[in-house]
Amino acid sequence: MILMRLAVVQTNPVFGEVRNNLAAALAMMERERADLYVLPELFNTGYNFIDRNEVQKLSEPVPGMTSQSMAAFAKERNCFVVYGFAEKSEGIFNSAALVGPEGVVGVYRKVHLFDRENLFFTPGDRGFPVFDLPIGKIGIMICFDWMFPESARSLALNGAQLIAHPSNLVMPYCPDAMVTRCLENRVFAATTDRVGRENRGGFDLSYKGMSEIVSPRGEILRRLGTDKEEIAVLEIDLEAAKNKKINSQNDLIANRRVDQYSLQ
Ligand code: ACM
Repeated sequence: MILMRLAVVQTNPVFGEVRNNLAAALAMMERERADLYVLPELFNTGYNFIDRNEVQKLSEPVPGMTSQSMAAFAKERNCFVVYGFAEKSEGIFNSAALVGPEGVVGVYRKVHLFDRENLFFTPGDRGFPVFDLPIGKIGIMICFDWMFPESARSLALNGAQLIAHPSNLVMPYCPDAMVTRCLENRVFAATTDRVGRENRGGFDLSYKGMSEIVSPRGEILRRLGTDKEEIAVLEIDLEAAKNKKINSQNDLIANRRVDQYSLQ
């Protein structure tokens, strides 16, 4: 059994205050030792953009200021960090980066854009990546991707033992739904949400909190509150995600009847 320390870092960013939001998240992370920290979606910019100009202004490339700061933290602490940010590249993507002691390991670009995100971001075009790290196999999806079971399934089929799931939840369903995503794929998930409210440009959004760590058996190992910044750290054994058998006859991956499904 190899235990790893997993942290969910539930923050309350102030819209547009990239440097302050980054500093506040790092201050929370410094309080707890972990092998992997998972931060919310768009943790450094805030979520409720008014127009594309704002997204353009607040987005950053990789490498950029945020990836460099996170990589410095990861190097000093010998750990990994997954965080959501607005990625400036050939388009502007709602992305999550994975950084470690040696710098940026990879970037996931959100595939299923939610509501007004469709006005501001380019949809992700690189599928659902899984990164083989010394601490285990880590897959990434972002927030609304949870509502498409194909996202978590793709990550599980690609070998993910843990789904790192940066989120900004505005609907109440995800924390309970992730129990099913974990159960049906026999994977761990770390859903990290934010808290607080952003009332901008006539759109009033309140974020649900309830960041959580769920086991491959669908157990909610830890769930945070709805209104406070908080960091939770748990020791988990990622090996538990390797066994897809639920009894002597049923293996959740091998028993799939792909010839019977209509997926196109
Ligand atoms: C969401 O995907 N941020 C709801």
